[in-house]
Amino acid sequence: MWISFAGIITNYKDVKQFLVQKGHKFRSDTDTEIIAKLIKHIHGLHPNYSFRELVEQVIQQLEGAFALCFKSMHFPGEVVATRRGSPLLVGIKTKTKLATDHIPILYSKEHSKLKDHRPHGHEIPAHGLARSQSTSEFLPQGDNKEVEYFFASDASAIIEHTDRVIYLLDDDVASVEKEGVLKIHRLKRTLEDTHAREITTLKMEIQQIMKGNFSSFMQKEIFEQPESVVTTMRGRINFDSETVVLGGIKDYIGEIRRCRRLLLIACGTSYNSAIATRQLLEELTELPVMVDLASDFLDRNTPIFRDDVCFFISQSGETADTLMALRYCKQRGALIVGITNTVGSSICRESHCGVHINAGPEIGVASTKAYTSQIISLVMFALMVSEDRISAQPRRSEIIQGLRNLPDQIKEVLELDSKIQEISKKVFEKKSLLVLGRGYNYATCLEGALKIKEITYMHSEGILAGELKHGPLALVDKGMPIIMICTRDNVFVKCMNALQQVTAREGRPILICHKNDQEPQKYGSSVLEVPKTVDCLQGILTVIPLQLVSYHVAVLKGCNVDCPRNLAKSVTVE
Ligand code: UD1
Ligand code: MG
Repeated sequence: MWISFAGIITNYKDVKQFLVQKGHKFRSDTDTEIIAKLIKHIHGLHPNYSFRELVEQVIQQLEGAFALCFKSMHFPGEVVATRRGSPLLVGIKTKTKLATDHIPILYSKEHSKLKDHRPHGHEIPAHGLARSQSTSEFLPQGDNKEVEYFFASDASAIIEHTDRVIYLLDDDVASVEKEGVLKIHRLKRTLEDTHAREITTLKMEIQQIMKGNFSSFMQKEIFEQPESVVTTMRGRINFDSETVVLGGIKDYIGEIRRCRRLLLIACGTSYNSAIATRQLLEELTELPVMVDLASDFLDRNTPIFRDDVCFFISQSGETADTLMALRYCKQRGALIVGITNTVGSSICRESHCGVHINAGPEIGVASTKAYTSQIISLVMFALMVSEDRISAQPRRSEIIQGLRNLPDQIKEVLELDSKIQEISKKVFEKKSLLVLGRGYNYATCLEGALKIKEITYMHSEGILAGELKHGPLALVDKGMPIIMICTRDNVFVKCMNALQQVTAREGRPILICHKNDQEPQKYGSSVLEVPKTVDCLQGILTVIPLQLVSYHVAVLKGCNVDCPRNLAKSVTVE
């Protein structure tokens, strides 16, 4: 049985208790498993029921809000999907035009309750159509009858495949049976029923609708971060008891604590999230932590050992270099941990365990909300590994409370938007932009510069402030645009030092610093003030202004923000 489930089953405990009484054994605590066991149970009672009838029985027993999609080896080539309270749509892709733009609802006769006997398969088609008639209408015209169906919660997931969709209503049961015909059933006919579901053609404006009030997906995704960071933490952090449980990793935590070293391997933005969390991972796990770009890692034939733990970070879970590095390490017996945003992706499947960052679909090619959620996922991992270290408790507690306040602080940073737009007007015609910082903010420099290169095509470089005097200082003069990050942490004094070296060469940096911190501000041509958080989370608040700078500069330069030239969302080519 294969089930795709979104939502929550509120009577999960009762159903589980019932099934345990009936002798069913459970392997997990997930609500998904009770659904699988329930359908198995009903199948045992009624071996003659069709797949669709089984699902109809199952959902009568479930309370809560859910969208479900079922496949089973007992019913090869069939899919049944249903929803209640959670969105679900069916995308339809055919080579030729469809004969109709609506699909009639078939009503099953009132089903009797679970344990009763019920007569088999009487359907009352809508509008008195004969059953065969009502369904055959729905086939594509012409010789090529090939049809593909897509089941998804959101049109954005399928728009690249087809623009024709049916939005299912609560308690609709959609089934694709062997002949590839889609049918929609309801148990009962109610007065307000429309008797048919329309096939909607998503206009190109759907993209517009999905973007809401935003001009691009990237902008929408930047502004989603107060919510996306919450979904990353949801169900994983208990802020009151200050405990963190990553369901996908908890069974491996002993093995991880005993390992020789941690390796974080990724490309691009995901690599920057590894840089952003390396210091905290070293501090809380007390393990050596190596961070590598996947392509370079492969070029080097790096030695890997059985007691290494290797993390592979990728938004799509399909990044080719990262995936190849994963296979290389897996072959050598290391424990493979995935950090991905895409359930069912290659990295997710081929890893031993992992964390879904749950940032929601990211459509803009330039990654924004996935970056902040990757950081939070790795921070949660560090918190979980260090749970049993007494001496680490004050630090853990400080970080967990920092995470709790993060969504509100992100909102505060986003309020800088119009100020950032003004600043962008001053730099968008320049040739180059340097981003300087160190410590926990170094990753922000790399990520900010990557965003700027990626979508504005302007040269930009993230420079470790500690490296300034070893070369990059030669670039600095009064004409060179510089952004410098200078927050109150353990490298603040060193940062101030670098700032003075820059101003001594007539550089007038744009400063990102803490709210009301006068000292650095007097050296800046303009200042972006961000709220203070724990040092290891500060990078989340300092990267957002840079995401916005890159966005505004790209708009000012007339670039296509969501689809930069030469780049693709998921880099799967070698
Ligand atoms: C899981 C469920 C979630 C449910 C929760 C309830 C999924 C995808 N997640 O979340 O819907 O609300 O339990 O307890 O069903 N994995 C990899 N590689 C990766 C990422 C993940 O192997 O790159 C594995 C994990 O080890 C785990 C599974 O995928 O076995 C799900 O991971 P994740 O979604 O992070 O787990 P939970 O947060 O527990
Ligand atoms: Mg896996």
